[in-house]
This record gives sequence, structure tokens and C-alpha cells, in this order.
Amino acid sequence: KRIVVLYGGRADEHSISCISTAGVLGALDADKFEPIPVGITKDGKWIVDGEDPRGWNLDGGALPIVEKTPGSRDVVLDVALGKDGFFARNADGTLESFGHVDAVFPVLHGPYGEDGTVQGLLEMMDVPYVGCGVFASAACMDKHYTKVVLNAAGIPTAPGIMVDARTVKPEEALAKVAEAQLAYPLFVKPSRAGSSFGVTKVEAAHSPEEQAKQLGEAIAEAGKHDWKVLIEQGIDGREIECAVLCAEPGSEPEASWPGEIVLDHNDDDQFYDFDSKYMDSTASHVEVPANLPVSVLEDVRDVARRAFVAVDGAGLSRVDTFVCPDGTVMVNEINTMPGFTPISMYPKAWEATGVGYTELITRLIEGVLR
Ligand code: DAL
Ligand code: MG
Repeated sequence: KRIVVLYGGRADEHSISCISTAGVLGALDADKFEPIPVGITKDGKWIVDGEDPRGWNLDGGALPIVEKTPGSRDVVLDVALGKDGFFARNADGTLESFGHVDAVFPVLHGPYGEDGTVQGLLEMMDVPYVGCGVFASAACMDKHYTKVVLNAAGIPTAPGIMVDARTVKPEEALAKVAEAQLAYPLFVKPSRAGSSFGVTKVEAAHSPEEQAKQLGEAIAEAGKHDWKVLIEQGIDGREIECAVLCAEPGSEPEASWPGEIVLDHNDDDQFYDFDSKYMDSTASHVEVPANLPVSVLEDVRDVARRAFVAVDGAGLSRVDTFVCPDGTVMVNEINTMPGFTPISMYPKAWEATGVGYTELITRLIEGVLR
């Protein structure tokens, strides 16, 4: 079967997608699938025959990016042609058909990839694809709407408010925080981004002026990534992540043993930010199952499955929760295309639950083949 693997993309998480894709291509079952890697540059150009992700050196140094190279060719999509609607533009301007495509695996994180836009394009082209559909992708990309949907389904989330970074004054934001009775510390985040880009922790300050200043700076930082900014109450709880798999459309979603990212540097002020996620491999390790009583782990699995169903999930998602000291399980966020390197939480959690990396990829792809 011929599988287009889409990677890179326009989001801040471009390089994370490249790393995930190097892992997926390396583990893909070559007896079953012929991969066609299609890169998307940061400015949104689709290319084939670019640098092969399997050759990327991922051990530190510069993060990989998709770029046009002398040998790469532009991709031309023809929505009207459906499963055969994919061409490469040769140097002389002629178009060459790539022939039939059986499915697309969009290994894309963040906006323009994990947010329903690519999913909508693939729906239009009538090509089967791995993962959540348009609605679930869009709802989970936007942390504000994730709360709206989950709260309606009776699933608790961290209390928070939304502000518009383009127009809100720091004092207004501070008044809104007080009105919503959010307790400090606060986390200020872009509503539609991932991998902790633009997230700032705001501690209680000594004066309202100082507090407004700190809040204003945090909103401006988040606003670089999205004008829609979420101000959330920091939750006193452990961040426990659960991998949900629902490879065959319409089947019951399965939940892995939940895992925890254990930080190896013991620094109370540090949260699990971009650098500790991707730049410093000694900063943390994944522990599955998380060191919690089985009854709590089962609660997390139950919430993860319910959250997946509430957003109309398909294929896969990693549901990130907070387990509070009183046992309450809150959903922090749902990642519809979670980090997918062999050492990422999603594959690690399935490995610990009995589904290996290659088998996981095979099940996800075979589940959508028609
Ligand atoms: N957004 C990143 C890729 C993750 O959640 O794993
Ligand atoms: Mg994310």
C-alpha cells in the first residue's frame, strides 16, 4: 500500500514534526507499506524528493527543517482527482502523476496540520487518512474550545479565561483574573499552539501594578503565537498522560497505561517547557505506568477514553491530565497528533501496554485503508 507521510508544516512545531516523521519512516513495516514522504516547508510549499528524513541526525545540534533543495520538486494537488490527485512539477514545468495513494499519515503538529485544515483538504480529496477528523482536530487545537466541549461532557478542566492579545490591557486582564477567582500561579498560553511555545508561568506579585505588568508581558509573549490567549489557574497536581488508540473507525477507543514525564533536574520553578522537552535529552524521562495506585491509573484511563469520545476523536490522541491530591482527574489538553518519535510518550505508553512501535503504526494505517 502506498502511504503519503506528510511532515514539517507551517506551525512553530515544524521541526518536532520532522523528528516524529524520521521515527515513523524508520519503523514503518516495509513489507506492507511503500512510504511517499511529502514535506511541507515553513512557508507552506509541499515538496517531494527533498532531503530524506531518515538521514537526519537527531542527536542534538540544529533542528531539522524541510527546505527546497536542487533535487526537490513542488507538489501540485488536484482535489478533483481524488486518490490520484497528486502530481510533482518537474524542472521543465511538466506535471508527473504520483499515481494512486492508499492513505495519508499526516505526522504534523500544531496549526495547519493538527487543527483540521489538512484533514479538511484530505476529506475533499476523498483520501483516507490517519487520525482525528476535522472537528476533533479543530476542537483540540484550541485549548479554549477543548474546555468548552469537555466541560459540557462533565469532564473537569483547569479553570481559565480567554483574552484577546491584540486588544486587552494588562489591568483589564488582571481584573478578569480576579473576577474569575483564578488562584496563582497562573499559566498564560497561546490557545492554539503546542510544545509549550509561548507559555509563561506567572507567580503572585507583591503589588497590583507589578502583577499587571507580569501578566501583560506573559500575554504579549503568548500573543506572538496566537492572538487568542488563555489564562489558566495552575493546578496542584501531577501531569499524567494517557495514549488513546481507536485505529478501526467506529470501534471502542482503547487507553494505554498512563505515563508521567519525570524531570531529572529537581528544580521547583522549572516547568516542562520546550527546552526540557526537545533540547535536553537528559532533562527528563518517560515512566509508564506512572507511579500511582492502580485505581487512580484506571480513573485516568477512563477519563481519557471519555474525553476522546467527547471530542469525537478518531485514530489516536494523547490525553494529558492532572491528577490532583484529592484524586480528581482533570484534562489539561488533548493532542490529536502527539509527538511520535520512538521515545515520545505516545509510543512509549503503548509499548508498555503491549503494542510495539511498528505494530502501532501498522494498526493506525490499516485501520483507515478502504
Ligand atoms: N504537541 C506535541 C508534539 C505533543 O503534544 O507531543
Ligand atoms: Mg500539544
